[in-house]
Amino acid sequence: MVRLLRWGGCALALAGALTMAPAGAGEVSGRAVFERECQACHSVARGRNHVGPSLFAVIGRPAGSISSFSYSLALRASGLVWSAVTLDAFLADPQGVVAGTAMRFPGLGDAAERAAVIAYIASP
Ligand code: HEC
Repeated sequence: MVRLLRWGGCALALAGALTMAPAGAGEVSGRAVFERECQACHSVARGRNHVGPSLFAVIGRPAGSISSFSYSLALRASGLVWSAVTLDAFLADPQGVVAGTAMRFPGLGDAAERAAVIAYIASP
C-alpha cells in the first residue's frame, strides 16, 4: 500500500510536470509571444511571406536576403546579419536599429519575451 501511494504521488508529480512543460515553470512561451506579436505578419514556414518575410532559418542570414520578398531599402542596406544579439536589438526597437524599416512594429519591451521568441523562431 505504501508503495502504491508512492507511485501514485510520482505519477501525479509527473503529470504536473508535463502539464507545465510547454512554458516551463515561470518561463515565457516563445510560441505564445510569436502568436501574439508576430504571426499577424510573419510565418516560420519556408517560403511563406505575408506582410513580412518568412522567418524560416532566419538566424545566420543577412537582413533582407529573401529574394521573393520586397524589402525596404533601409533593411537591405543595414548590413545586419541575424543572430540572437542583432535580433534582440531589432525586436526591442525596430525603427531605432533600422531607421526606415517597413516593419511596423513598436518593439517588444520585455527582454524575457524577446529571448523566448528568438529561441522559438530559431527552432519552431
Ligand atoms: C505589422 C507587421 C509586422 C509585425 C507585427 C512584425 N513584423 Fe517583422 N517584419 C515586417 C516587415 C514588413 C518586415 C520587412 C521590413 C523591411 O523590409 O524593412 C519585417 C522584417 C522582419 C525581420 C527581418 C527578416 C529578414 O529577412 O531580414 C525579422 C527578423 C522580423 N521581422 C521579426 C519579427 C518578429 C520576431 C516579430 C514579433 C515579435 C515581428 N517581426 C513582428 C512586418 C512585421
